[in-house]
Amino acid sequence: MPDVDASASRSIVIFDTTLRDGEQSPGASMNLSEKMELAQSLVDLGVDVIEAGFPIASPGDFEAVRDIARTVRGSTICGLARCRDADIDRAWEAVQYAERPRIHVFLATSPVHRRCKLRMSKEEIIAGAVAGVKRAKNLCPDVEYSPEDATRTEDDFLCQVVEAAIAAGATTINIPDTVGYATPTHMGDVIRMLRNRVPNIDRAVISVHCHNDLGMAVANSLAAVEAGAGQVECTVNGLGERAGNCSLEELVMALHTRHDYYRDSTRVVTRRLVPTSRLVSNITGIQVQRNKAIVGRNAFAHEAGIHQDGMLKERTTYEIMRPEDVGFAMSDLVLGKHSGRAALADRAKAMGYSITGDQIDALFEQFKILADKKKDIYDADIAALIEQQIHSVTEKWTLDSYKVVCGTGQVPEVTLRLRRGDEKQSVDVACGDGPIDAVFLAIEQATGLSVVCRDFNVHSVTVGKDAQGEVLVQVEHNGQLYRGRAVSTDSVEASAKAFLNAMNRIAAIGNP
Ligand code: KIV
Ligand code: ZN
Repeated sequence: MPDVDASASRSIVIFDTTLRDGEQSPGASMNLSEKMELAQSLVDLGVDVIEAGFPIASPGDFEAVRDIARTVRGSTICGLARCRDADIDRAWEAVQYAERPRIHVFLATSPVHRRCKLRMSKEEIIAGAVAGVKRAKNLCPDVEYSPEDATRTEDDFLCQVVEAAIAAGATTINIPDTVGYATPTHMGDVIRMLRNRVPNIDRAVISVHCHNDLGMAVANSLAAVEAGAGQVECTVNGLGERAGNCSLEELVMALHTRHDYYRDSTRVVTRRLVPTSRLVSNITGIQVQRNKAIVGRNAFAHEAGIHQDGMLKERTTYEIMRPEDVGFAMSDLVLGKHSGRAALADRAKAMGYSITGDQIDALFEQFKILADKKKDIYDADIAALIEQQIHSVTEKWTLDSYKVVCGTGQVPEVTLRLRRGDEKQSVDVACGDGPIDAVFLAIEQATGLSVVCRDFNVHSVTVGKDAQGEVLVQVEHNGQLYRGRAVSTDSVEASAKAFLNAMNRIAAIGNP
């Protein structure tokens, strides 16, 4: 049983850092409107604190934190800062508009960071942390302090820094396992030690921020909660630096499903977990692995005959959570060409999407086209169509038609026709390493945009040989990365449309 008072059930503060640490994942950068959309989804999900970015890091980061603070209501909005005056002032400039603003300052404490990165003595670290917290506190009542690399810091020194930061006004003390070095027992011991040895610890909420380098971020965070931590920092889909951070959905569902053991709860609306996970993977282009706990496509799929038999007799024989509780639709009910608009709208609603009448009309049109090509339409097909529509951009070019002739030992020949307003542009090329490379080259010629393809990923949305292929591409243009996404039962067409989607994003920001 956890060693906090078992009779008092606590609400654990869920601090989401998808927009800050998550965005530090290679290739996960998001634009302003994507960040705004995600911030609103995090509010709908019920997270308590949103770390919206690191305002001093770039003008784009600043603008995103400021705009989120100005418009998003319902969660605390936090900005990150080093213990430097300029960082702290800039963080405040961005978060001051929030309903509940927070400044999060950090300064590393471990021997290797002190000696090699900061070249500061222990005394200088304490003075720096105190000065940072005080400056932030003069601006904002809600201040969090993180001794970066806390889990590799000497116990005595960690206690001294934490005590000084609380005395200077920190209301949350976050213990980062910056390099994912801790084990669950170690993490629990650190939290217990701070609770036992830091005299003013009751004046602050203890938080943890665990990285997943050894695959233990969730286990370490749960051990910290058991030992008395009241806040957990996490990210949707476990995104984050290197191997990522503690996965929000796994942590929340562990507390929820094992409430008998942990006794603590969260404010998270668990049925929003899957839609939020899908949103993050669509925005970032980083796919969730199929067997990922809670939100992976196979998380509730029972393959073995014995399991299926058990499930039919009694669901709880093999299922500890209900798929609908995390936001998977109740059943993978199949729709087809005879299904009507109302059935489609119902399905979309059950899957957690709130779409307007106009959007349903457009979705229904796409659905009918798909139903002509594919007999059975599953939830994943509908999700792919909706997400394609939600994340559409103003289209300068659309694909009118394409034809590829290719074969073993033959240079692929492509005839491609794009539509731009009422105009049609045709190109013929005979080049490329394969049909997709040739289609991409033809699109570059037709649009006049030259890009470098940095990532290309194709996977099937459902099972079966008539399944839709989803293509995600990432291209670089003038030093900036742009993503493109499309689905089709024809994977070459999906590739062409995804590539064109990225070109349209380039054109939409007026940078062709
Ligand atoms: O991992 C880390 O130490 C961090 C801090 C800024 C909290 O991300
Ligand atoms: Zn981190």
